[in-house]
Amino acid sequence: MQAADLIKALQTVRVVPVIDPKSQADCLAAVDALAAGGATAIEITLRSDIAYDTLKAVRASHPDIVLGAGSVMDPETYEKAVSIGADFTISPGRCLALEAHVAGKSVAHVPGVVTPTEIIAARQAGQTLLKFYPSEAAGGASALKDLGRIFPDVLMMPSGGIKESKLHEYAALPGVLSVGGSWMYAEGGKYRSALDMGKVMAQSTTTMREFDRS
Ligand code: 3PG
Repeated sequence: MQAADLIKALQTVRVVPVIDPKSQADCLAAVDALAAGGATAIEITLRSDIAYDTLKAVRASHPDIVLGAGSVMDPETYEKAVSIGADFTISPGRCLALEAHVAGKSVAHVPGVVTPTEIIAARQAGQTLLKFYPSEAAGGASALKDLGRIFPDVLMMPSGGIKESKLHEYAALPGVLSVGGSWMYAEGGKYRSALDMGKVMAQSTTTMREFDRS
């Protein structure tokens, strides 16, 4: 999907589980539980051997979910993700060769930034939907509040170290489109029960939607 459609799709749910799959079965079960809790968008990171097959399996089992492919840093990976059925791709930083490759294509790529200098360069390249990573380590909602004052035209998808207890800080920021991470399906490095995943997902969406920007 194009960036404008991705923005429309994310602006009500405002929470994107980011899964780095260790097992296809566990990932599929997590996606089922998260979808039951209201998840309408999921990112699967392409950082392991099983990631592509897992992305494919999630696409097959949840044809309506907005499916992102994460850690996409070159044109080859982008094309592979698109051929599997990813609706968007996203990376932790900027990859100029990839951004050039994606120009004019129908599947949006969301580049990552942290600093004002990176944001200025991204805007000059026409990118105003950006990932902010690693969010908590880079100042979290407090940093995003300052950046939002200077770059009111930019929409951010922060992820990295975000916990449920921090969501209210992000929810209030108009420049935050959605927050991503693993807190809703894992805790202390372990997957939550399916019941908990659905519960935390639902609670997280409620917190973020109190400031629905649509
Ligand atoms: C990623 O991009 O891998 C995730 O944003 C990591 O999320 P987490 O820090 O919440 O596990």
